[in-house]
Amino acid sequence: MAKIAPSVLGADFAHLAEEVSDATSAGADMLHLDIMDGHFVPNISFGPAVVEAISRETDLFLDVHLMLSQPEKYIEPFVKAGADAVTFHIEVHPHPVELARQIKALGVQCGISLNPDTPVEAVLPYLAGFDILLVMSVFPGFGGQHFIESVLPKITAAREAIDRSGLSTRILVDGGVDADNASRVVSAGADILVMGTAFFRAPDRAALVKMVHGLQK
Ligand code: DX5
Ligand code: ZN
Repeated sequence: MAKIAPSVLGADFAHLAEEVSDATSAGADMLHLDIMDGHFVPNISFGPAVVEAISRETDLFLDVHLMLSQPEKYIEPFVKAGADAVTFHIEVHPHPVELARQIKALGVQCGISLNPDTPVEAVLPYLAGFDILLVMSVFPGFGGQHFIESVLPKITAAREAIDRSGLSTRILVDGGVDADNASRVVSAGADILVMGTAFFRAPDRAALVKMVHGLQK
């Protein structure tokens, strides 16, 4: 069974509490929270205060995706705000083992992410130290972009490496994932689909969750 992580970036920020509680009752498995610094990516989103507000509205697992040039500075504030997992990018931390250790020492899961133009080989040596591999299927910074198809073989390569080594690292795919490409993304090897626009603009969110839950690898 595949899982779904609605990305709050796609929600109506003027009604954030309702959006979060609606995603929870629609059956979402977790929430994906995109943190952007205007430096690693050309956009700014929200910070720990908003994560803390979201954590008061839901018991869902909060998957915090740090698109920051200096993630090490912000791990503790996001954990204090209620993050259950913190993911940072290999592009800013080419030697990520120590940062993973620091994240886990705070009692949360840790994830590593890679951009569409970063080869999967950049993260393979480190997967044993991570609970999550977040494969970007758009260049990060904005919701509502088109899924980059050429990322599919990368998902499969990561899946094979994880299975071959008997790891429990979960593969999340993030960017442009929707009802049309979901089954291909899961067939390629994804465990969890991040959906911003596709989830929050879906005419029937619960039906979308059900469809994703029906997908098998
Ligand atoms: C992109 C973010 C994504 C984004 C996904 O920088 O990391 O999580 O919110 O949004 P959609 O599903 O609209 O591509
Ligand atoms: Zn994201």
